[in-house]
Amino acid sequence: MSIEIRKVGVIGAGQMGGGIAQVAAASGYEVALNDISEERINAGLATINGNLARQVSKGHLTEEEKTLILARITSAPTYEHFNDADLVIEAAVENEDIKRKIFQALCPALKPTALIGTNTSSISVTRLASTTDRPEQFIGIHFMNPVPVMQLVEVIRGIATSEETFEATRALVEKIGKSLTVAEDFPGFIVNRILLPMINEAIYTLYEGVGSVESIDTAMRLGANHPMGPLQLADFIGLDTCLSIMQVLYEGLADSKYRPCPLLVKYVEAGWLGRKTRRGFYDYRGEKPVPTR
Ligand code: CAA
Repeated sequence: MSIEIRKVGVIGAGQMGGGIAQVAAASGYEVALNDISEERINAGLATINGNLARQVSKGHLTEEEKTLILARITSAPTYEHFNDADLVIEAAVENEDIKRKIFQALCPALKPTALIGTNTSSISVTRLASTTDRPEQFIGIHFMNPVPVMQLVEVIRGIATSEETFEATRALVEKIGKSLTVAEDFPGFIVNRILLPMINEAIYTLYEGVGSVESIDTAMRLGANHPMGPLQLADFIGLDTCLSIMQVLYEGLADSKYRPCPLLVKYVEAGWLGRKTRRGFYDYRGEKPVPTR
């Protein structure tokens, strides 16, 4: 039996959740956006509004289309607002305990047929599914940042994920105009299994004094044609997220080659988490980003 998705709930109104809400609404889905406070939901809505306004100013979208997209997104301060959602995508912080608590509180509010997707970038989908009342209807839907721009969605089946759940997810990914790649449920899946050790190695390269922030980023931008240098990208992803993913790889694969660089740990302990806190490997508080080392 095929499952039709019309209304999508999104948990987390930050850079990932907000982006997911935006692309889903732009593709015709009704969206309900949740976060831990109304302020955060409103901040997420303001970012979406700003992104769409930029598209209007570039002539990629009309003012009428922007109004229609925004009208499809409603604020969902509690999970009760998801009672008619066909799919809820969790895009909260990359912390397993928090995700578990979310799923425990979420499940009783959902209709029995609703699917749950997690945007986790590295945590076991099977393990997260086991904390819900519906492992067959649970799937990993991993978007890339910035969601409106990046073409890929990585889809990960848990051990119990049903074929109907997978097919409904595939249909959603196609409807929002993205390309899907399927990854098996192992730590970091595909993208982060490869990307994060590269970023971590760039941080070791800095830590060991092989290069400065600027020389490392320039080397990879101009020498390997990466759109951003690895340290710039780390700031963009968020250093706390980078560290969480390295810890999942390190513990999940039990191999010392994945050990997080102590310098990454130090930045996170300082609260220098990258662009979102306006300081990371670069300082974003001025007009132009300035390297912090
Ligand atoms: N939100 C929405 N749109 C954005 C955006 C954002 N944060 N940043 C840029 N854009 C849009 C711009 O509006 C512009 O749109 P148009 O083409 O319609 O004009 C387009 O993207 C290109 O932007 P710019 O010309 O300003 O900048 P750019 O050419 O330098 O590209 C970039 C910006 C797309 C972010 C590019 O630098 C890039 O591809 N960087 C690498 C990103 C990457 O690797 N992402 C994956 C991270 S890993 C991940 O997400 C997985 C995980 O779990 C950690």
